[in-house]
Amino acid sequence: MGGRQFTRIGVVLLTVGMLAACGNSGGGGGGGSKSSSDAFTGRGPITLATGKDTSGNLQNQVNAWNKAHPSEKARIIELPEDADSQRQQMVQNAQTKSDAYTVLNLDVINTAEFAGNQWVLPIPKGKIDTSGFLPPALATATYFGKEYAVPWKTDGALLYYRSDLLKKAGISSPPKTWSEMQSDCTKVLKQPGTKGMSCYAGQFDKYEGLTCNFSEAVNSAGGEVINAQGKPDVDTPAAKKGLDFLVNGFKSGSIPKAAITYQEEPSRRAFQTNKLVFMRNWPYADALMKKEAASKVKGKFDVAPIPGLDGPGVSTLGGHNLAISAFAKNKASALDFVKYLTTQDAERKNLLATSEAPTIASLYDDQALVKKFPYLPILKQSVTKAKPRPQAVQYGDVTAAIEENAYDALQGKKTSDQALKDLQAKLQTLIK
Ligand code: GLC
Repeated sequence: MGGRQFTRIGVVLLTVGMLAACGNSGGGGGGGSKSSSDAFTGRGPITLATGKDTSGNLQNQVNAWNKAHPSEKARIIELPEDADSQRQQMVQNAQTKSDAYTVLNLDVINTAEFAGNQWVLPIPKGKIDTSGFLPPALATATYFGKEYAVPWKTDGALLYYRSDLLKKAGISSPPKTWSEMQSDCTKVLKQPGTKGMSCYAGQFDKYEGLTCNFSEAVNSAGGEVINAQGKPDVDTPAAKKGLDFLVNGFKSGSIPKAAITYQEEPSRRAFQTNKLVFMRNWPYADALMKKEAASKVKGKFDVAPIPGLDGPGVSTLGGHNLAISAFAKNKASALDFVKYLTTQDAERKNLLATSEAPTIASLYDDQALVKKFPYLPILKQSVTKAKPRPQAVQYGDVTAAIEENAYDALQGKKTSDQALKDLQAKLQTLIK
């Protein structure tokens, strides 16, 4: 059965396993005849629509391209910082068939929606060598066996911890479980100079980051949001243990109240101004906390795998891929630009400048890089073992249901039991 038939009969969600199966059986996505390289003509100025660049390096990369390609200059169109607003603006742009955005920096969760609606074109075969990309990252750019984007940055969760304070408290290695994290924190907070600090925070505002943190908690307790058969399965004792880790954290004060408004950047700012002992965040935070003038934790923190219920946790797979709008002009220039940003050399330089996680697998084993970023093997594990979020054309509805119920539970508006029950019921209406 081809991809078109799949979508026509109303299957809105594909697990990664199903996607792989469709790919093997030659399922074709929605690209149609435009998937040939014929559609990739036109040279001239282009734009890159992307979420706010917290890394500070993107303009440098674009400047270097522009210097070498004076008649095909790229301009950054900066969208908001949070994933939901970025998606909204990109969707609006696509729905009006606007040519304003040429290259889209698409969050990994948006491939299915943009490919399924034919808002982005499949990358023509043979134009970009994809053999060196981390397989999980490449899978996020693939829809019904076709690559609709090129992996650019991947993301796996990391546990940032105050190595200085753990050491002072006599703790020699970072915690592997949630209960170890709690007992380590209790010891640390007994030390002088820790007044006003809380144990832990992640990203708990009502947005995509909450979907990541909630799913991570569920998966790290042995639960699942969507099971291997592609069915919602979140109303389980294991999922409850995961959600309770967060709910109880808020109740007990281990997680500060303010964290209910945290997205990535506010949580990073809290950690770097001595408000947290432990923080869950993506790799980008490392470089900024090492170099920003406002950071008070330079040389005082380290990175470990995220903890879970009985041992190391399971990250949610994050990341961004570069796709080319179906409505854009100058697609030949766009393709070259995408290629330029995703070479091994470009990704290497970007890692050095920003600590953002590359998608080229070999960079994780590059000894010079491992020396500079000793946590690269931890990051590789985090990414390769990470659990992808559902690949759904209607992902926006799926994530809204997760955000709503998880947020209500964290705020104490619903019990964990009720939130999971309601979420399960809602997901069952969305995922047929
Ligand atoms: C990061 C991840 C992305 C995720 C977002 C949530 O940007 O790369 O996949 O959706 O965080 O806030």
